[in-house]
Amino acid sequence: KFTNEELKQKIIELKKKLSVTLVAHFYQRDEVFEMADITGDSLELAIKTRDDDAEFVVFSGVGFMGQSVKILSPHKRVVMPKAACCAMARMIDSMYYDDSVKFLEDHGIKKENIMPITYINSNADVKAKVGEMGGMVCTSSNAKTIITTAMGEGKKILFVPDRCLGQNIANQMGLKSCVIGDGKDPNDVDIICYNGFCSVHQLFSVEDIEFYRKKYPGILIAVHPECDPAICNAADFVGSTSQLIKYIKELPLEQKVAVGTEFNLVNRLRKKNTYVLSSTKPECPTMNETTLEDVYLTLKSIDDGEPLNEIEIDPKVQKWAKVALERMLAL
Ligand code: 13P
Ligand code: SF4
Repeated sequence: KFTNEELKQKIIELKKKLSVTLVAHFYQRDEVFEMADITGDSLELAIKTRDDDAEFVVFSGVGFMGQSVKILSPHKRVVMPKAACCAMARMIDSMYYDDSVKFLEDHGIKKENIMPITYINSNADVKAKVGEMGGMVCTSSNAKTIITTAMGEGKKILFVPDRCLGQNIANQMGLKSCVIGDGKDPNDVDIICYNGFCSVHQLFSVEDIEFYRKKYPGILIAVHPECDPAICNAADFVGSTSQLIKYIKELPLEQKVAVGTEFNLVNRLRKKNTYVLSSTKPECPTMNETTLEDVYLTLKSIDDGEPLNEIEIDPKVQKWAKVALERMLAL
């Protein structure tokens, strides 16, 4: 067993020797995050790693993020210190996706009149289905732009898997939405959302917001769009992880702010006058799985010539998932 300091030293030494780039999402543990060469929200990570030229990408995050790098740059070797899967991405697979399309068809909406959009928090097979049907990917930072473009085609939008992001964007744009299973007729709305969600972002409640507003009059509430529509409607700012960080860092230090997103990100922000918008610690279990030791062991496995947890994607899935991701990047 090595201490974190020893592990950091070993990681630095292996990095000098190997052609690797360390990538980490904001929700990673601090000690893992600190070692990264590239950090960002999901969109920034996809773009920055695509433009990086190291042979290996060591991705500390969740499966769909590492997969997106491999899909966009198939020649790169992408390894994940932990094969952790985002719980929301796990809520839909290609079979459930087909069922959602069938739900619309059963209501008389023809396949050619459906524009599917998948949140990047989905596995490669779902992205491929969406790509093959003429749709595209979005992230929390560009969902509004993507949906605005998609709406221009005059079709019904099938939004998977995050019902909250889908409903929040619909509310922001003054569009009508429903969630499959809520009993509404999809013909009466613009955006039909799959019933997926992030359990971490479900921890924030309107009562939490009321509590903070009462306790600290003048406090600002900043949340991620994976929170429930009731939370986003009551907040002062809604944005992706990078957008939240930027918003909070630009506030005067004396301005109190309560933040509704993953704990590691909130805890790393300015220490003064920043609060976690929940009485329950909002930790993402899968993001927290990756340890510094995992990063070291992954680098060691590359050095030994037998990389651990290397991402491989079926060529047909790769082809259409890439189309869906590239349609997003083109915008
Ligand atoms: P961002 O794209 O905002 O980084 O979000 C990723 C995520 O998984 C949020 O739960
Ligand atoms: Fe997935 Fe939620 Fe974790 Fe983000 S916070 S990676 S959406 S489970």
